[in-house]
Order: sequence, then C-alpha cells, then structure tokens
Amino acid sequence: MEREFWENAWDENNIGFHMSETNQFLKYTFDEGIVCDIKTALIPLCGKSLDLLYLREMGIEVFGVEIATKAVEQFFEENSLDFEIEEKGNYKIYKTSGITIFCGDFFSLKRDDLPKIDFIYDRASNVALPPQMRESYYDQIRNLSSDNTQMLLLTAHSEEEDQFGPPFSISKEEIEMAYKEKAKEFKLLHEQKKKVTSKRLIKAGLKSRIMVAHYLKF
Ligand SMILES: C[S@@+](CC[C@H](N)C(=O)[O-])C[C@H]1O[C@@H](n2cnc3c(N)ncnc32)[C@H](O)[C@@H]1O
Repeated sequence: MEREFWENAWDENNIGFHMSETNQFLKYTFDEGIVCDIKTALIPLCGKSLDLLYLREMGIEVFGVEIATKAVEQFFEENSLDFEIEEKGNYKIYKTSGITIFCGDFFSLKRDDLPKIDFIYDRASNVALPPQMRESYYDQIRNLSSDNTQMLLLTAHSEEEDQFGPPFSISKEEIEMAYKEKAKEFKLLHEQKKKVTSKRLIKAGLKSRIMVAHYLKF
C-alpha cells in the first residue's frame, strides 16, 4: 500500500478504521497498570486517532507518524488544537503541546528524530501493510525501540488464512517471529472472535476474525 492509496482513502473519506472514541483496550492496559512508567510514546501510522489525545492526557509526550497530510490536518482541526509546523528532511512536523506528528513516510524515520521511546502503540498499523512491506516495518519498530520500550500491539487474524486487506490478517506466528526473540517480555493478553466491520473484508466474503492483543517489553 503506497502513499497514493492512503491519500486517496483520506480524500474520499474512506476511513472506516477511524474510531470516534479512545480504544478501550488501550485504556484497559493503562487502568490495570499493564503498561506503566511511560514518559514518551510513539504511534506509527497514527491517522487522526483519538488515542494520541488519551496518551497525552496520561501525561505522556506523544509522537505520531502519518503519511497523509489530510489526516494530520483533520486531527488538529477536529480537536481544536493550535499547532506549529516545522519542515525537517522528508517531514512536515506538526506540533502542539504534548503531541508531535511527523507527516511523511514512517519508513524514513530515524532513531535520532525521536527521544528515547518508552511505549509503542500499534493499533491498525501493522495490519494496514501488505506482507511484502511488513518485514521492513518490523525492522523499523525494532530499530526505534530501546531497552525497556513497552509495546501494545493490536492485530487480527482469520481462522483460515486469507490475503484480503487492508486490514490484513496477521498470524500469531508472524508476530512471534517479528518480536519474540528481541523482547524480554512477550505476552498474549487477549483473543476474541469478532464480526468484521471493514467494507473491503465484508465484500470479500469474510464474516469474522480473531482480534489479538500482545504486550511486549524489549
Ligand atoms: C488503518 S489506518 C490506522 C490509523 C490509526 N492507527 C488508527 O488506529 O486510527 C493506517 C494509517 O497509516 C497511514 N500510513 C500508511 N502507510 C504509511 C507510511 N508508510 N507512513 C506513515 N503513515 C502511513 C495511512 O494514511 C492511515 O492513516
């Protein structure tokens, strides 16, 4: 899925993945102290997620990365946030108190562009990428993490393997291969069968997928 695909999706308001409230599982992991002692967070492929605001409310300095300018502009406009823009390398960097969004390609982000990241939150990011892009995505996540970086990873997979997407089906084996060896802690937190809501998946004839949550500490 290249830049143009996502820019078109945003231009046509084809953004069924966007949630109009904070992700309940993110909230649960903070309420239960599963994720703790966090000062900085990174949301790769952040869209205009309200979870950026939730993490800021938790007193965390939040960094998002999003390729579609429209998504970033809508985030600031819809949440009535003042912002400043700085141009740096391949990015337009949008900043408001507690939130910085790098508008550009996640794969170009360098470790030096960010402070030490305590928490990576992946909701609908990994699953947005086709198989041929995911190996580079895992490399990039591993590169941007440091000792003790925690991660909440929310994915989904089909009971019978399918190649439809985005959102793509990501097997638990793929997640283990990507992260288990590097992680000090690797926990499967939750699994639940749910009806699919993506129009693309419904059209492809899928009825349900298993939603999966992993907690990791690198
Ligand atoms: C499925 S959406 C999920 C957005 C967000 N995580 C959420 O939960 O609402 C994937 C987002 O990633 C963005 N995106 C896709 N490829 C990207 C890339 N290479 N770099 C940065 N953003 C990208 C898309 O524009 C889209 O907003």
